[in-house]
Amino acid sequence: MLEIGIMKSEEVEEVIHLEYDVLGISPFVATSVLPVKRKVVVARVDGKIAGCATLCWNDRFEIASLAVKDEYRGSGIGAAIIEKCFEVAKELGFDSVWLETPENGPVEFYLSHGFCVKSHVRNMYGDGVSGLKMVKHIS
Ligand SMILES: CC(C)(COP(=O)(O)OP(=O)(O)OC[C@H]1O[C@@H](n2cnc3c(N)ncnc32)[C@H](O)[C@@H]1OP(=O)(O)O)[C@@H](O)C(=O)NCCC(=O)NCCS
Repeated sequence: MLEIGIMKSEEVEEVIHLEYDVLGISPFVATSVLPVKRKVVVARVDGKIAGCATLCWNDRFEIASLAVKDEYRGSGIGAAIIEKCFEVAKELGFDSVWLETPENGPVEFYLSHGFCVKSHVRNMYGDGVSGLKMVKHIS
């Protein structure tokens, strides 16, 4: 059974492991030193975390990470997480949601969820990997 919700304190370790496994880094850990507020949206399948998104905001609302475990991909979990992110942003009074992704990342996925490319940043991820800043207006 799929359930989308907000990370509980006892799920922190599972989220960090998931981010490292899928992304090779943990934006949840990295953003902990920034002057931002944070929330993590999680997708639980039969009580286990199948995917998550770290959200952070001050004057701008950003999806700092989105990751779904390999074995759960392609069944709408990423879409369900991202819809919940929009809901959280709206509840907090934001009218847009920002994210950054490598240009060889899931750009089509984000475009299909209404994001548009705002700017192109050369070498954003080092090693010649450029990135895109994307935004979706939600109001
Ligand atoms: C991107 C990601 C979150 C999507 O999760 P998911 O649960 O598979 O998403 P959904 O099942 O809701 O949607 C799948 C759709 O996204 C598309 N998609 C997924 N990854 C993609 C990629 N790298 N490039 C283009 N399209 C992609 C699929 O083709 C599929 O399209 P379809 O519905 O037309 O068949 C997941 O693939 C993932 O964790 N990828 C690795 C981590 C990553 O790249 N995160 C984003 C960092 S910015």
